[in-house]
Amino acid sequence: MSTPALALQLTEAELRLLQALIYEQCGMHFDARRTDFLKNRLQKRLKECQLDSFYSYYRLLISEQGRHELSRLLEDLTVNETSFFRNKSQLDLFSKHILEEVVRRKREQNDFSLRIWSAGCSTGQEPYTIAMLVADCLAYHYLRGPFRPGKLAPKPLIPPPWRVEILASDINYSVLRAAQEGTYGESQMAAVDYAYRLRYFDKVGDRYALKKPLKELVHFDFHNLKTEYLPQCNDIIFCRNVMMYFDQAEQKRLVEKFSRCLNPQGYVFVGHAESLLGLTDKFSLIYRNNGTAYQRHQVIP
Ligand SMILES: C[S@@+](CC[C@H](N)C(=O)[O-])C[C@H]1O[C@@H](n2cnc3c(N)ncnc32)[C@H](O)[C@@H]1O
Repeated sequence: MSTPALALQLTEAELRLLQALIYEQCGMHFDARRTDFLKNRLQKRLKECQLDSFYSYYRLLISEQGRHELSRLLEDLTVNETSFFRNKSQLDLFSKHILEEVVRRKREQNDFSLRIWSAGCSTGQEPYTIAMLVADCLAYHYLRGPFRPGKLAPKPLIPPPWRVEILASDINYSVLRAAQEGTYGESQMAAVDYAYRLRYFDKVGDRYALKKPLKELVHFDFHNLKTEYLPQCNDIIFCRNVMMYFDQAEQKRLVEKFSRCLNPQGYVFVGHAESLLGLTDKFSLIYRNNGTAYQRHQVIP
C-alpha cells in the first residue's frame, strides 16, 4: 500500500523568498489572509515538478529553464472569477453617461475612433459585455442621426465612420485561450438577458457562442500589468477586481501607468471593492446611482 504524499515543509525564509519573487514578477501581494492559499498552490506546483524542497523550486523559478514553470505558478495564483454584466450600476454609468460623453466629444472633434482596454479580462465576459454595450450605444446614435438610404445592407455592427477597438489582456494564458474561444455554458450566461442572447450569441449544442461581428471587436493579448509596456491611447480603461490583489505601492504605480495610457479626459473603471482614493491626484471621482468611475484631469500645457 502506498503512503499518502506528505506536504513538504515550507520554511519562513523560503516563503519570504517566493513571496518577493512573485511580487517582483506580477505585483501580486499575499498578506496574512491569503498566505494559506499561496502555500497550498506552492505545494501543488512543487509536487508536480517533483522537487524535494521549496528552495530548489525557487532556484528553478529564477533560472532560464524555469520560465515556463514561473508562468504556470502565476496562472495558479490568479483569481479568475468574472461574469457578464458584472456590477450593473457601474455599467449603467458607463453606457448611459460616460460612453455618451466620449462619443459626443469625439464626434465634435471629427474623431470617430474608440479604444477601450479591459486590463485583467479573465475569460472574456467583461470585454464582451463592453462590446455589446458599445455596439448598442453606436447603433442608437446612428438611428438618431440623419436618415441615410439603405446602401449599407447588411447593416454593420459598428456604423461607419466609427472604428471600435476593444483590447482585452491578462497575465494568464489559459483564461486568454478560453476568452478567445468565446463560448459559454448556461450557468455563465445567467446575467445575459434574452434580447442580448438573441442579438449577439448563437446557440451551439448546450453552449452559447458569440457571433463573429461582436467577437471581432475584441482583441486578446498577454500583458503583465507589472511591466511598463502597456497599451497606449485608450479612451477608457476597465481594470476591475485586479488591483485588490496588489499592495498599495503597486496600486500607485499601476494608476500612474494608467494615467499615461489614457487619452486626455479618459476614464478608468475599477472594481466595486476598489478605489483610487489615496493613490493619485490625477483623477476625479464620478458617481451616479451607485456606479463609480474616475476621469483623468485634463493636462494643461
Ligand atoms: C478576478 S479577475 C477579474 C476579471 C474581470 N476584470 C472582472 O472584474 O470580472 C482578475 C484577473 O486579473 C488577472 N491578473 C492578475 N494579476 C495580473 C497582472 N499582473 N497582469 C495582468 N493581469 C493580471 C488575473 O489573471 C485574473 O484573470
